[in-house]
Amino acid sequence: MILVTGGCGYIGSHCAVELLKNNKDILIIDDLSNSDYQSIRNIKLISNKNVEFIHGDITDIDVLNDCFSQNNIESVFHFAGKKSISESYKDPLSYFSTNVKGTINLIESMQKYDVNNIIFSSSATVYGSDYPLPWKEDLILNMPHNPYAKSKLMSENILKSYLSTNQNFSIGILRYFNPIGFHSSGLLEDKVLGSSNLVPSIISYLLKNIQFLPVYGDNYDTKDGSGVRDYIHIIDLIEGHLKAYEYTKKNKGCFVWNLGSGEGFSVFEIIKKFEELLDMKFDLRVLPRREGDLAEYWADISKANRELNWYPEKDINNMVKNILAFFEIKKENN
Ligand code: NAD
Ligand code: UD1
Repeated sequence: MILVTGGCGYIGSHCAVELLKNNKDILIIDDLSNSDYQSIRNIKLISNKNVEFIHGDITDIDVLNDCFSQNNIESVFHFAGKKSISESYKDPLSYFSTNVKGTINLIESMQKYDVNNIIFSSSATVYGSDYPLPWKEDLILNMPHNPYAKSKLMSENILKSYLSTNQNFSIGILRYFNPIGFHSSGLLEDKVLGSSNLVPSIISYLLKNIQFLPVYGDNYDTKDGSGVRDYIHIIDLIEGHLKAYEYTKKNKGCFVWNLGSGEGFSVFEIIKKFEELLDMKFDLRVLPRREGDLAEYWADISKANRELNWYPEKDINNMVKNILAFFEIKKENN
């Protein structure tokens, strides 16, 4: 059985569905702090399979120990965590508690119950801002500035340090760039819509929940002044997890892979793609830059190509079409 921490959230719920599709038994642990029980119902509905669920907090080691002692767990996919850069400036301790303490607890419990395989959700933000693009996994990283990125880099380092004490351990560290898009059922991500990320903002704007689309900064040193990111479709991202899992089951050690598309698109470019497909003009408002936002970054994905035979299939046009299909479903249900 695979333990999926944070399996009710955006990325974890997509992964849960794919694992079930691949006939893996899964147990989800989630404290529902950024999701709700409806996720479990929807995962069951989409996969037509049963899912074990524990409503629990990974910062509580007793909860984890119970979870490992009562179930036959062979691997962990570790998604549970907090993910907002701006929130992490306001409440750094909760970021270190959930992301770092939660990860330490998990390793301790895994050690106690002899579970030796983990796939860890890291982030492109661990690269900070000091390196030439595209970012490669073998860069020696300085501690990044924002507390969220710090918590992810600290967790990576803790996992790597633990490896030296346990030669049977294998770790897949996946540095996500910007995951976007939705499951074709449209059932998996209500909470995403409440966030201030670019795609949720666009959907909120199209649903008329907000009157204008904010653009956070148009004077960056980028191709058109707006922020540039590497967007990766959620289903491609999850495929990367399944391949990383197979790899780490065959190879002991710690492996780091970037999961992105390898290309950077600006905020204005993304908006234009939506405008073209919808044949409409968006009402944009340029607002000040968000704290902690970098101007631009994208991934070198040749390591994941080579070692995992992982190649993202959906390009930016497919991603925008997929998001619009999701929007249509939401509009009907609105
Ligand atoms: P999400 O918030 O949708 O999902 C995280 C899940 O973890 C939620 O269901 C939440 O309730 C749960 N959770 C939070 N704290 C918990 C705790 N203490 N105990 C148990 N469950 C807890 O986020 P997501 O977008 O699915 O991200 C998953 C992981 O990927 C996170 O670790 C995040 O930092 C990382 N990540 C996300 C992105 C992104 O853009 N979405 C990018 C890079 C990395
Ligand atoms: C996201 C994640 C972060 C993750 C990182 C990986 C959040 C809050 N952030 O950050 O956890 O580690 O990817 O790379 O989940 N923008 C607008 N208008 C909007 C919203 C966004 O102009 O309404 C701009 C931003 O300024 C940025 C770009 O769009 O230039 C992308 O922003 P966003 O979707 O929030 O993702 P990141 O901040 O890159």
